[in-house]
Amino acid sequence: MCGIVGYLGDNPVYPVLIKGLARLEYRGYDSAGISVIENGKLELYKCKGKVADLERHVNGKLQSGFVGIGHTRWATHGPPNDVNAHPHASDSGKLHIIHNGIIENYATLKEELINRGHVLKSDTDTEILIHLIEDIQMRERVDLLEAVRMALNGVIGAYAIVIIDADHPDTLIAAKKSSPLVIGIGEGHNEFYLASDATPLVEYTKNVVYLEDEEIAVVNRKTGLSIRNIKNQEKTPYIQELEIQLEVLEKGGYDHFMLKEINEQPASIRDCLRGRLQLQKGSVTLGGIKDYEQKLVHAKRIIFVACGTSYYAGLVGEYLFEDLARIPVEVEYASEFRYRNPIIGENDIVIAISQSGETADTLAAIELAKAKGATIIGICNVVGSSIARLTDAGSYTHAGPEIGVASTKAFTAQVTVLTLMALGIAHRKGSISDSKFHRSLVELDSIPEKVNQVLEVNAQIRDIANIYKDADNALYLGRGFTYPVALEGALKLKEISYIHAEGYPAAEMKHGPIALIDEEMPVFVIATKGASYEKVVSNIQEVKARKGKVIAIINYGDTVVKELADHTIEIPETDDCLVPLLSVVPLQLLSYYVAVMRGCNVDQPRNLAKSVTVE
Ligand code: G6P
Repeated sequence: MCGIVGYLGDNPVYPVLIKGLARLEYRGYDSAGISVIENGKLELYKCKGKVADLERHVNGKLQSGFVGIGHTRWATHGPPNDVNAHPHASDSGKLHIIHNGIIENYATLKEELINRGHVLKSDTDTEILIHLIEDIQMRERVDLLEAVRMALNGVIGAYAIVIIDADHPDTLIAAKKSSPLVIGIGEGHNEFYLASDATPLVEYTKNVVYLEDEEIAVVNRKTGLSIRNIKNQEKTPYIQELEIQLEVLEKGGYDHFMLKEINEQPASIRDCLRGRLQLQKGSVTLGGIKDYEQKLVHAKRIIFVACGTSYYAGLVGEYLFEDLARIPVEVEYASEFRYRNPIIGENDIVIAISQSGETADTLAAIELAKAKGATIIGICNVVGSSIARLTDAGSYTHAGPEIGVASTKAFTAQVTVLTLMALGIAHRKGSISDSKFHRSLVELDSIPEKVNQVLEVNAQIRDIANIYKDADNALYLGRGFTYPVALEGALKLKEISYIHAEGYPAAEMKHGPIALIDEEMPVFVIATKGASYEKVVSNIQEVKARKGKVIAIINYGDTVVKELADHTIEIPETDDCLVPLLSVVPLQLLSYYVAVMRGCNVDQPRNLAKSVTVE
């Protein structure tokens, strides 16, 4: 969380920084700030609130600078207020810093600095770092680069930082460990963009360098880009070409990114299948994991690690891999896995699922599993992200940038990749017949069109949202493949509308949640045709017997549930194992409309951030 951006070049810096911060706002929106060198002086503007608040605060006063840094914050140390907003200044005021991450040993460092007479203004760990750097610079009589290097050697934690120096307006210094940092190289090689991800750079350059952990980059108007690590070894910058197009970062006529992204799902699932599902040949090819196919076929156990919505995609993966490929699967919250001394060894395969590819807990879980010799496969959306680079192999989800904080198209793309993987492995392994395999491929190929049909129930879902928008609680029930969808449906509602919601396996309801059911309680049930259909019908009857309100997702033409339920949403039929890809869509839309009707900020829900780079 926290988004950082920097610019050094021949164009006015303020518009570049503000636009960049708006693109990175999904990473946190507690406060925003910028520092720009104008007429040889560092000008600092920062305030609580969003980037729009910062713009109002600056009020056109920054016009002439060509170098600067900016930050949008998700608070970790200290409440969101003006003082804790970044950038933070050193004692002399000549150095300013922006930071994404956490300095874990900040308390010790703070004490040492206070003992040496430093006066700290904020509650943040970041301010400590810039004081430490200046302190070293003075005491050791070294230049800024060397002071940064020495300071980072004494820091425990995660950081992506950029430092601006009033005395050296031709230079910015950046460094990273565990938090992401990308450097865009502009035309003529004397113009540089620095950012937490590539979205602020796309309209200016396609040439980027992803900084590696413990590397320090210096960008200078005359000497260009140079990189060294904190051990002082020089590194050669590896320039890559960006593939993101600018249009995908705009709302494209929709009111919110979330609605746009829900509606993009037919296309994003199609993109995810493209070149991988070959109907004619009757095969599945996932190029990124080709070398690990045999290992997967012979795997004795697979462990999925992930957080949030990606964790729920992992749960769908468990049902897919066990049912189709007959491989035992465990799904773990990355945050639990990393601290519970898991039993894991060289024969294990760990599959990490992450939209952003930057989630700190997932990264740490991978590092742990790697150290124990496991094979690590990644399923990421963001190309070139830290997780994508840390894994042994992987498959991108190709959903395109997801900006809405609540994940939608990334989830269906993750489930699509997992379905391809499970089907491919099952076929190679012989755990499903040729005919089932081919039938499933044909069905999977029809999913984008069927998602299109699901999206047509939009107006009806809006009506249902209007009826239940004032509920205090909601229950979501599913069974088998749709149990993880119930969890994801409840998470979506919680995240963006702040209604308390719980997802449950339908049959477990009678072991607790049934006590909550009364005429006020909406119960969303996924009751599509499939292995547990009859059982779910019984569960609906149990809810109705307690006067609960049932909103059921059913297949076209189902009259049985239609009779029982208060409202039904009809979706096309598909294979049991593909139902998650269809049934989650009405639940996404429902959460969206409820949130809009409650006046919530759909794309930037309170307290949340899209990319959680702190543990
Ligand atoms: C945050 C986001 C969620 C996301 C989770 C995991 O909580 O708000 O939407 O599912 O992080 O993120 P990842 O990028 O690893 O999938």
